[in-house]
Amino acid sequence: MAIVKVALGARSYDIIIEEGALDRAGSILAPYARKNRLVVVTDARVATAQLPRFDAALRSAGISVEPIILPAGEQTKSWRHLEELLDALLALEIERGDHVIALGGGVIGDLVGFAASILKRGCHFIQVPTTLLAQVDSSVGGKTAINAKAGKNLIGSFYQPALVLIDPSTLDSLPPRETRAGYAEVVKYGLIDDPEFFDWCESEGHRLLAGDPDARVHAIERSVRAKAAIVADDERETSGRRALLNLGHTFGHALEADTGFSDTLLHGEGVAAGMALAFRYSARLGLCAAAEADRVTAHLRAVGLPHDLATAHVTADGPALVGHMLHDKKMAAGTLPFLLARGIGQTFLSKDVVLDDVAAFLDGEQVSA
Ligand code: NAD
Ligand code: GLY
Repeated sequence: MAIVKVALGARSYDIIIEEGALDRAGSILAPYARKNRLVVVTDARVATAQLPRFDAALRSAGISVEPIILPAGEQTKSWRHLEELLDALLALEIERGDHVIALGGGVIGDLVGFAASILKRGCHFIQVPTTLLAQVDSSVGGKTAINAKAGKNLIGSFYQPALVLIDPSTLDSLPPRETRAGYAEVVKYGLIDDPEFFDWCESEGHRLLAGDPDARVHAIERSVRAKAAIVADDERETSGRRALLNLGHTFGHALEADTGFSDTLLHGEGVAAGMALAFRYSARLGLCAAAEADRVTAHLRAVGLPHDLATAHVTADGPALVGHMLHDKKMAAGTLPFLLARGIGQTFLSKDVVLDDVAAFLDGEQVSA
């Protein structure tokens, strides 16, 4: 078992990573169960795939489970489902000292975290992430949100969980496409500031994607160690360090917007193509060697992730894509900070990017597709 600490003073918490941890959840979570009861919020797909196992583990430790099952999918991060969830938690008489369990991917984690942050002015919550994306990224760091008509993740809070319990074996039931999309966020940590980890992804990433337990645990632990360090340093994204986690997200957001935030392009797939574009744009600016950008593109292509506009199913021209970027919530005082790279493992935040030049670059990408 690996335990990674997120060091945030009084709000510090552990991330436990262990193959099969779900089957030991009873003993791990017993200290958090008031009156031997836990409320578990999940979605319909995870309820079928993983809840029976989790439920059995808790019951074998004498903990009764109150499940709240919401529909699967991004549309669940909405006012309607937030209200439904809060009403259900109130009906179950959740108190401030209670711990609500979020069992699922980033959708359930983000929604439950936000609900916990406002229920009775804040109750506790525990992340039990079941997608690779949630295990390496969204369950750690306390960003919680629902979507608004005006855009994704625009209503939310910074609210840290009390514990993150990661069982990589839950990925056995995850569709391969979802695992691949989450893998983009794994690669991201190598590209940000850990070139050795990118080397590992190039040589061993296929093992992770094939479900090799050692490769999975290694990648998840390395990723959450990286994220925990960044969050401990810049919890609220004020110094610029946490913003590095947005590598590929500005380009990716435009691609996701162009494809209607739909199953055409999953979030992680948008991030993959966005990271390839960020590296190629950095090469165009002369910041990074073209060979480095080619390496990034080649790895994403090798694992079957989108790596350009064509493989992201995007047909819009450069100005239209830049138009989507202008709605990015990272816009500040009329400028859009961009994550660029001087090489693999050398990502930095630039505030000097000229959007007309980005549009011209994207037009060139469209032509070469
Ligand atoms: P998701 O939660 O929608 O899960 C993807 C699909 O997999 C869903 O259909 C779900 O039902 C299913 N699923 C989950 N676990 C499963 C399992 N073990 N077996 C079978 N099916 C399973 O999507 P996601 O990719 O996990 O998360 C995306 C969300 O995360 C987005 O809303 C995004 O905004 C958010 N996000 C948040 C942060 C953050 O820091 N808070 C970071 C990145 C992304
Ligand atoms: N996923 C970006 C962050 O947590 O800051």
